[in-house]
Amino acid sequence: MARKIIIDTDPGQDDAVAILTALASPELELLGLSVVAGNVPLPLTTANALRVADLAGRPDLPVHAGCDRPLLEDLHTSEVVHGDSGLDGSELPPPSRAATPGHAVDWLVATLAAAPERSVTLCPIAPQTNLALAIRRAPEILRAVDRIVMMGGSAFYGGNASPAAEFNIFVDPHAAAIVFGAGVPITMIGLDCTHKALMPRWWLDDLVALGTAVGRTVAGMMDFNERYDRWRYGSEAGPLHDPCVIAYLLAPDLFGGKDCHVAIETGSPLTRGMTVVDWWGKTGLPANAHVVTEVDSDRLFRLLHERLARYG
Ligand code: BDR
Ligand code: CA
Repeated sequence: MARKIIIDTDPGQDDAVAILTALASPELELLGLSVVAGNVPLPLTTANALRVADLAGRPDLPVHAGCDRPLLEDLHTSEVVHGDSGLDGSELPPPSRAATPGHAVDWLVATLAAAPERSVTLCPIAPQTNLALAIRRAPEILRAVDRIVMMGGSAFYGGNASPAAEFNIFVDPHAAAIVFGAGVPITMIGLDCTHKALMPRWWLDDLVALGTAVGRTVAGMMDFNERYDRWRYGSEAGPLHDPCVIAYLLAPDLFGGKDCHVAIETGSPLTRGMTVVDWWGKTGLPANAHVVTEVDSDRLFRLLHERLARYG
């Protein structure tokens, strides 16, 4: 039976690749997308999620617009990485439809309330505002959650939104604190892992060579997306963040990490949004997350290519 998942997202080029990969994978049943403000403001992330669903040939996929700002902080966006549209480099047409009626938080609460125990995996690949609000409003929905597998945080790598914090946690640290404190098993795929998932040239070239709309779109988007990272980090290639979440669901043996206690810094302006990972068990606090730091990059990109090549 396919694993039921919900992706909470702020597309974003790498979010788009994660969604396309999930929709090409019969092992996963994507119940829908809950969309949040993050990489760009909510009207754009919502339109982008719809554009990606169109590209995947899934105009039926539930796409719910959610929170347009973090719980307490002002919204911090990332056009410098993703371009003004959030999907620069893609040349996708405007969406064929409006978002599915109903706020994403209402949809999350209703969907999880109706689901059997431990039957849904939540996949936040964006600031965690929608999830945190849903948990706050109806904590009993957590009984339906099998695991939360997220892209966010950093153990040893430092930050990409500030010296201390990864973007998704930096944007809404209070939301992340609620999610990490929810008592649900968490897999945290942060920058330690994703900065080892550097997009090889052959991957982009082979996507173009597919001659399909998906191949061209993903290659064009990621080519745009990695420019900033190559400049910032001085690496030959840019990291591919969000698709690691979907790849983890498909092939967890590609990844390595450790169970740790993770706390979120919400007070200090200097280290706001830092994921304080107790890698060495110094606090004695019980582990609340499996912190992923390793990935077999070669097998990861072969897997992603194989999935994206399924689109005609
Ligand atoms: C995360 O931030 C966003 O820019 C990406 O989409 C990814 O979810 C990486 O830090
Ligand atoms: Ca994202």
